[in-house]
Amino acid sequence: MISLVGMPGSGKSTVGRHVARHLGLPFVDTDQRIEQRIGCSIRAYFELHGEAAFRDVEAEVIEEVTHDGTTGVVATGGGAVLRDGNRAALRERTQVFYLRSTPEDLARRLRHDTHRPLLQGSADPLKRLRALFQERDPLYRRCAHFVIETGRPSVHTLVSMVLMQIELAGLAPLPKEATPPRP
Ligand code: S3P
Repeated sequence: MISLVGMPGSGKSTVGRHVARHLGLPFVDTDQRIEQRIGCSIRAYFELHGEAAFRDVEAEVIEEVTHDGTTGVVATGGGAVLRDGNRAALRERTQVFYLRSTPEDLARRLRHDTHRPLLQGSADPLKRLRALFQERDPLYRRCAHFVIETGRPSVHTLVSMVLMQIELAGLAPLPKEATPPRP
């Protein structure tokens, strides 16, 4: 099983979906799973019940999807690494890829975002992202088996970088055309 961790806007869901499709594996987005469970948007849930209640549901969902041996690729929410139990479940049961982006790149990508509760209403989103990055970067690194520096590449390049790392680490068979010829 492969999982993706990283800051909001780092591309976890998009990259995860493409990687899963390429490998022919099922894909789960924990935020989507959470929204199915709570029956409303995460943003609304934060407003109604607060962050701690959301983190409880998130921990339940991470426990379930990492336990379920049928999940192929898991994209997590940006705060999934905040709880020790989530980090342990991801690290012990999955190969964790950290999509690492700078707060500056994230601010650029998220400038029109209205969904992410932790960034709403902030007068200075870049400052907020810098604070979140400072707190979380060590946690993502601690949880990850592989760190992919995202910089500003296209989704296609990022997907290729993850797939190449998966292949190099022997986590999935090489696609047929890349298999070296027999001697
Ligand atoms: C969060 C990130 C969100 C979502 C929730 C909390 C965070 O996921 O889980 O809004 O704490 O960074 P994305 O990383 O997909 O935005």
